Amino acid sequence: MKDIEYGIFMPVGSGGWIPSGNIPELDASYRYNLEVARDSERFGFDFTLSQAVWRGYGGVSKHFDVNLESLITSAGLAQATTEIGVWSTVNTALLHPAVAAKMVATQSEISNGRTGLNIVAGGNRMSEKQMGLGLDLDNAAKYRRAGEWVEIVKALWTSSSVDYEGEFFTLEDCQSDPKPVGGVPQMICAATSDTGLAFVAKNLDGVLFEGTSRDSVISIGQRARSISQANGDALKTYCVFMIIPGDTDADAQRRIDHYNEGRDLVAITNMAREWGAVSHDPTAYNPDNESWADSTAISTGTVAGSTESIAEQLADMIEHADVDGAVFIMPDFKDDLAALGEEIMPMLVKGGFGRIAAA
Ligand SMILES: Cc1cc2nc3c(=O)[nH]c(=O)nc-3n(C[C@H](O)[C@H](O)[C@H](O)COP(=O)(O)O)c2cc1C
Repeated sequence: MKDIEYGIFMPVGSGGWIPSGNIPELDASYRYNLEVARDSERFGFDFTLSQAVWRGYGGVSKHFDVNLESLITSAGLAQATTEIGVWSTVNTALLHPAVAAKMVATQSEISNGRTGLNIVAGGNRMSEKQMGLGLDLDNAAKYRRAGEWVEIVKALWTSSSVDYEGEFFTLEDCQSDPKPVGGVPQMICAATSDTGLAFVAKNLDGVLFEGTSRDSVISIGQRARSISQANGDALKTYCVFMIIPGDTDADAQRRIDHYNEGRDLVAITNMAREWGAVSHDPTAYNPDNESWADSTAISTGTVAGSTESIAEQLADMIEHADVDGAVFIMPDFKDDLAALGEEIMPMLVKGGFGRIAAA
């Protein structure tokens, strides 16, 4: 049996991961996330992960317009749980490494070492522009900067004093205590470009990715695996899956159709803009002629059906994409999380895919 790590992507952003007017209410409140973290721990998941989002995508769904800050959320969730890993996301373009090093070490003390970090290298145009922080770096420079950032946090977590003279950062006798409990926390990144993946392979412990279909999950997973193998084979690979359970396969499909009927094209386009996929000119958006008009509400690879069917599909993709971990999102983190934790995970683990405690 291969050990698979299982995580829950926390709904710290309003609307979850479906920009649609027809979704179950997800208010991104801390209270809601607290319940999700406690349920996730009870079901035996290995970790929670929260995203770092600084500007929502608007539209009728007001998608991600409310988004809790990741590190502070993780500090609270760490205090409220005892076993589960509590991972945060830090955008290296927005937080100085010496500030981040101390915040993460503090969270690590609160969680007694259950800390993990998802690194974002920046380039989120709308988020940075609204803060007057548009660094305007190309992808290579963005990852050179992130590389310095990671080198600095690691040095601060392991040394009493750090002097650093880089292209982007200068530190002089910089000190940071406490140190993280249990040493340097695991760090991952959801880079997708070759440059970003090279940065991950050189500096970090894992790569997070998502696909849009079974085939893309498998090909991206295998690409990540081969990049790992070319770099000492130590990288862990984690895939994000959107699960949509139903009483039957047809019932799950009805849920998807309903979400798609309410898809929010304004939010979808703004999201694409933020990720740099389309023009950044906000006046360029026209729902009648944008290519995004064909988009569905759900962009992350969806695994839908009865709970038995979902367990089978997940086993197939985990095996063929050869991943070390799966991170789950879902439309509703109460009933859907219960279906995942109580029905799907035990089937998956029984089938030979994992180590979740509850099974
Ligand atoms: C699953 C996943 C999660 C991500 N989480 C965040 C996040 O929380 N905050 C953020 O600003 N960017 C996030 N990103 C964006 C990535 O960090 C990265 O910028 C993006 O995938 C583009 O890759 P590149 O930098 O190699 O071009 C995420 C991407 C993926 C695929």
